[in-house]
Amino acid sequence: MSSVDYSDKIPNNVDLAGDRTLQRALERWQPGFLDWWADMGPDGSADYDVYLRTAVSVEPSGWAQFDYVKMPDYRWGIFLNPPEKDRKIHFGDHLGEAAWQDVPGEHRANLRRIIVTQGDTEPASVEQQRHLGLTAPSQYDLRNLFQVNVEEGRHLWAMVYLLHRFFGRDGREEAEALLERRSGDRDHPRILAAFNEKTPDWLSFFMFTYVTDRDGKFQLCALAESGFDPLARTTKFMLTEEAHHMFVGESGVGRVLQRTCEVMNQLKTDDPARLRAAGVIDLPTVQRYLNFHFSVTIDLFGADQSSNAATFYSAGLKGRYQEGQRSDDHRLRGETYPVLEVAHGALVERQVPMLNALNEVLRDDYIRDSIAGVQRWNRVIEKTGVPFRLEAPHKAFNRGIGTLAGARVSPRGEVVSEAEWKARRDEWLPSEGDRAFVASLMGRVVEPGRFANWIAPPASGINRQPVDFEYVRFG
Ligand SMILES: [Fe+2]
Ligand SMILES: [Fe+2]
Repeated sequence: MSSVDYSDKIPNNVDLAGDRTLQRALERWQPGFLDWWADMGPDGSADYDVYLRTAVSVEPSGWAQFDYVKMPDYRWGIFLNPPEKDRKIHFGDHLGEAAWQDVPGEHRANLRRIIVTQGDTEPASVEQQRHLGLTAPSQYDLRNLFQVNVEEGRHLWAMVYLLHRFFGRDGREEAEALLERRSGDRDHPRILAAFNEKTPDWLSFFMFTYVTDRDGKFQLCALAESGFDPLARTTKFMLTEEAHHMFVGESGVGRVLQRTCEVMNQLKTDDPARLRAAGVIDLPTVQRYLNFHFSVTIDLFGADQSSNAATFYSAGLKGRYQEGQRSDDHRLRGETYPVLEVAHGALVERQVPMLNALNEVLRDDYIRDSIAGVQRWNRVIEKTGVPFRLEAPHKAFNRGIGTLAGARVSPRGEVVSEAEWKARRDEWLPSEGDRAFVASLMGRVVEPGRFANWIAPPASGINRQPVDFEYVRFG
């Protein structure tokens, strides 16, 4: 069940060979995917031999195999976690019933929508990151970028499998459309706003993989609770890959901080101008990047009050983060939850029905998890003796969705006037000048073991290889 046959055209552990119609449909989708990768995947990298890991089994003990692979030859496949015997739906109106192995008719449209929305983010991030390889700060980082990219490609496969297998003709059409939308395209944009933003430089990339891939983690965790068992099993396996993406982001930002602090200590200064002249990213600029990525990403959880969120939960389609570990009744009728709004110039909490506030519940869980990582970054800074500390911005800061959309709130959580917002915007969010400066640092470093000046080397290499290992062989 769990081993993967790589002699198949589409590697899988779902016995694709036993369903010829489905196999043929996916084999027809495959060339379109490869065309999309050639068009929108990592720029100019088709001939590189990249030291990548590939899933060979879904067992926790040995799923990864490392070897040099040309990315267009990467074995994208369909891997589901093994089924749990007699799994039951454990929240919502169907609590206690057997988990569904097929899509219940009445939930078909909602499930399709959930799967398409998740699926759309996967190719979107590859598109957002496609030029970054041209300015990689090291071979090690380049390899990590490519690893993230091929795995996001595999996540697309995961969602496309569900669409083809369970949603008939509509599903096949949605699978086509996933290859047609493009991040940032005016006429055919990706579905969610954060996935239409640019990822123009490596500081953005590290912030994105820390902050936005973590949104991925929380969405996948909520879907891993789903009463629709194939969705639960596929998202569980995706989560094992997502962990690496967040590692890339957390360690990437950590290494930026490390390097900047080293130079601050050498030059005995915290003056951004002097640090910039020395070719490192000053800490207030890192803070502004964090403010931007954090605020744009928490919008991804959706409106603070949402009848869709209530429906998805009560229907058993999407649970809460760690639903199984919570001790309430898992139905939540009559429960309330606080949401924020601006009233008379101040932020105030208001209790609303929890079922309608489940986006906010997931957002708050996400914020707690994100802040824990910011504290880990602060320990990196603290160890160097530099007094600066990063701070996650207040959740009302720079919001574009829900009750707080357009509210003018500082990163510390004070409601401010439009005039103050305008005057201080460049203190709180990356300015054109910040972005131009960070862009000016981006240059391509290709020798094994060398690193761009603005980032420290990692503590150790990938798969116990040395840091100066040849992670990418350029064609
Ligand atoms: Fe993903
Ligand atoms: Fe990811």
